[in-house]
Amino acid sequence: MQDQFSVFEAPDFSDLPWHLPLDEWAGQTPRLEELPRGESRHPVVFVNYSGALYAIKEMPGDLAETEYKLLIQLETANIQTVSPVGWRRSEYLTTPRRGLLITRYLDHSIPYRSLFQHGGLERYRKHLLDAIAGLLVQLHLAGIFWGDCSLSNTLFRRDAGALQAYLVDAETAEIHPKGLTPDLRHLELEIMEENVGRELGELFFEAAQEGFHPLVAVPSTDAGMYIRLSYQSLWEEIRKEIIIRPGENYRIQERIRSLNELGFSVSSVEMVELDSGSQVILRPTVTDRTFHRDQLLSLTGLDTEEMQARKMMNEILQVQANLSNRENRSVPLNVAAYHWQNTIYLPTVTHLRNMVDENTNEVELYCEVLENKWYLSEQAHHDVGHEAAALDYVRRFSTSTN
Ligand SMILES: Nc1ncnc2c1ncn2[C@@H]1O[C@H](COP(=O)(O)OP(=O)(O)OP(=O)(O)O)[C@@H](O)[C@H]1O
Ligand SMILES: [Mg+2]
Repeated sequence: MQDQFSVFEAPDFSDLPWHLPLDEWAGQTPRLEELPRGESRHPVVFVNYSGALYAIKEMPGDLAETEYKLLIQLETANIQTVSPVGWRRSEYLTTPRRGLLITRYLDHSIPYRSLFQHGGLERYRKHLLDAIAGLLVQLHLAGIFWGDCSLSNTLFRRDAGALQAYLVDAETAEIHPKGLTPDLRHLELEIMEENVGRELGELFFEAAQEGFHPLVAVPSTDAGMYIRLSYQSLWEEIRKEIIIRPGENYRIQERIRSLNELGFSVSSVEMVELDSGSQVILRPTVTDRTFHRDQLLSLTGLDTEEMQARKMMNEILQVQANLSNRENRSVPLNVAAYHWQNTIYLPTVTHLRNMVDENTNEVELYCEVLENKWYLSEQAHHDVGHEAAALDYVRRFSTSTN
């Protein structure tokens, strides 16, 4: 056997029936798990090692190795993608030979069909299109052409009532270190529109036959166009150059803050002089869309999605203001974060543990409690507090309380 494995903190998978093609694994190993997934040309299975799930995809020729290497590059560029674990040549003899790609299963991810088929997830549907637009902007900022943007090639994770999109299929991706030309960005959007239109068209057709209502925010024929427009407005917002006149230096901070508000981190700011220095053009370089996520992770160790982190960072800033006010001194942000985590976040999530399931993690539930707190406080005309909001949320939405 030729072993081309590169495995970090993962099992060696040696007990799997590698001598068989993937579509003959059923009944040959107790590790297989049935999970919802998008359409694919290649066979894909999921395996379970002590609760840690992995996806294995069988592909012809050297495609598994190529995709593995691309996924590593995407991960290094901080793109939201499935995490590569390894690849290997298949052990059974075929001409041409085949390879297998192993990726870590993206926990709490939802394939788009599940978003349409399960009641209770309807309110997320309208965010699906914006999430794809956001992922495309991230890819293009990093100089990556996807080449096959589609609903099936994307997985979705809940993020504070919205969705984040993750790239799952990197087979066609290309890295352009000097950035993407407008022609390539245009081609990407064309491919996306064609794929999304076809996929939603098929889904709507099946829905009509099976009697469920796959309502997206827009009709299926307009969904691709909606993503294109959402992409364009985000891209233009990031690329916007503003002119700073003498005495307007505060606008530099203002511009950086507005990009941060959208979740983008700014790595550097270029100033180009105009009119012999009396005015400057501001050109920020935007990197990944993980501004609040990185901030929250370094302050608390909590690994979240961007919108979730933004909500929690707002709470931490509020705690910082309250503590500073109470103690009549300026309280550092990390002190406020520690206080928030121990007196607010952890006691609240203790109430929610029984509600965690394959679609919803603790952090998302916490964000739902924040929304509930806001709603209850509005009704009561005073702040009802986290505990009351959590208990009310559990009472109304938990199916497992007894
Ligand atoms: N790491 C993973 N975590 C969760 N789901 C996954 C993972 N890898 C694959 N899947 C599921 O398997 C499906 C098929 O995977 P993928 O798109 O990579 O296959 P493919 O055969 O290359 O597709 P295509 O026909 O577009 O070439 C995905 O839509 C996704 O639902
Ligand atoms: Mg695919």
